[in-house]
Amino acid sequence: DPGLMRRAIANLLSNAVQHNSGGTVVLIALEELAEDVRIRVQDNGGGISDELKEVIFDPFVRGDAARPGDGGTGLGLAISKQILELHRGKLKLDNRNGLTVFELVVRKKSGTGEPAAGHE
Ligand SMILES: Nc1ncnc2c1ncn2[C@@H]1O[C@H](COP(=O)(O)OP(=O)(O)O)[C@@H](O)[C@H]1O
Ligand SMILES: [Mg+2]
Repeated sequence: DPGLMRRAIANLLSNAVQHNSGGTVVLIALEELAEDVRIRVQDNGGGISDELKEVIFDPFVRGDAARPGDGGTGLGLAISKQILELHRGKLKLDNRNGLTVFELVVRKKSGTGEPAAGHE
């Protein structure tokens, strides 16, 4: 569903802007693999702690830096993950080397069969 996929990606892009300070560089890349398509939304902002990483895709979870009253609901990542799973895909967070990388993986072919493997 293009509208839902658009929403999943838009959530990641708006997070990269809203939860980091000015000057942060946000990069989006699409890569075609043998059976999957991988989209990375990456930023070099403040990063995400290991504690937050454990629960970041759970509904209503917000980071310390996300102030109450700034409009965030803590639902964006839970919704994005749900959308990917509805498309037999995966959404993962990989934060290493000072970069925050959200990776979406979906199958190129629709239908039944194994879900996208993603990668660790
Ligand atoms: N790119 C990012 N850089 C830093 N922190 C992030 C990033 N994306 C998400 N977060 C953290 O994850 C939390 C959950 O994100 P989300 O589910 O979209 O909720 P919300 O944006 O409404 O707070 C945010 O409150 C923020 O602390
Ligand atoms: Mg958000």
